[in-house]
Amino acid sequence: MKVTIVGAGAVGASCAEYIAIKDFASEVVLIDIKEGFAEGKAMDLMQCSSLNGFDTKITGVTNDYARTAGTDIAVITSGIPRKPGMTREELIGINAGIVKSVAGSIIEHSPEAIIIVVSNPMDTMAYLAHKTLGLPKNRIIGMGGALDSARFKYRLAEALDCPTSDVEGIVIGGHSDVGMVPLINNAVRNSIPVSEFLSEERMAKIVEDTKVGGATLTKLLGTSAWYAPGAAVSELVKAIALDTKKMFACSALLEGEYGLNDICIGVPCILGKNGIERIVEVKLSTAEAEKLKTSAEGVKKTNALLN
Ligand code: 2OP
Repeated sequence: MKVTIVGAGAVGASCAEYIAIKDFASEVVLIDIKEGFAEGKAMDLMQCSSLNGFDTKITGVTNDYARTAGTDIAVITSGIPRKPGMTREELIGINAGIVKSVAGSIIEHSPEAIIIVVSNPMDTMAYLAHKTLGLPKNRIIGMGGALDSARFKYRLAEALDCPTSDVEGIVIGGHSDVGMVPLINNAVRNSIPVSEFLSEERMAKIVEDTKVGGATLTKLLGTSAWYAPGAAVSELVKAIALDTKKMFACSALLEGEYGLNDICIGVPCILGKNGIERIVEVKLSTAEAEKLKTSAEGVKKTNALLN
């Protein structure tokens, strides 16, 4: 199993590290445009091999996409991260050109690759990848909802004062500070609805804190987060690599699902060797359906900026 990660920045390198530590891929190629940068990150990560006990081979490459040939799964993290106070959508001017170019380079050398898009504004970048590459829709996956759901579970566990492993929750909708739709009514603690433990006010705060989870970290760090984004990507890669049929919220191209068309937005997806094996349409409350519709309107507005 060969995985290529485009962009050896904080997110890309964290993703490479987690994939290696989970040790399910034979090779990870880290590629960047900055001379020697990916080579340095790869060497540093390989020097963890004996310490973290993995056999995955991580190679660093500067700009030479021929070295990515035969990639099974490619992760696009390249582009600029946001600064405090910025929205993800403000990155489109620079990141759209980068994503379009690297997506083409990946497929040129690995025509069968499954593509995971991370670069922001992610839903629009995933949509751009579809329009650029014209691949079957199951082979382009946007990573946002898996990260947002992890942040949702973190906030739920914090409020319940319980281990995160005790909670389940999913966030659908756009990967944006205003467009996320945490499905609080479906959230459970060991199969018991969290509404049995938490007040309406506290549940509302968890929803709001989840939506600005990325911005909260950007304010603290001075740049976008990287550990949880990298970990979230590594879980999507693992589900595809091992054909686990695990379900995550992923940005998928919708053709009528949830009453939406010609848009990439976060919905529950079952992942396996073919990428998106199935989009799952869950029953939404009227309010949740309305929020998803509003979220989709926001994503489409950003998509329109591509022209
Ligand atoms: C985040 O939410 C980078 O969009 C990513 O942290």
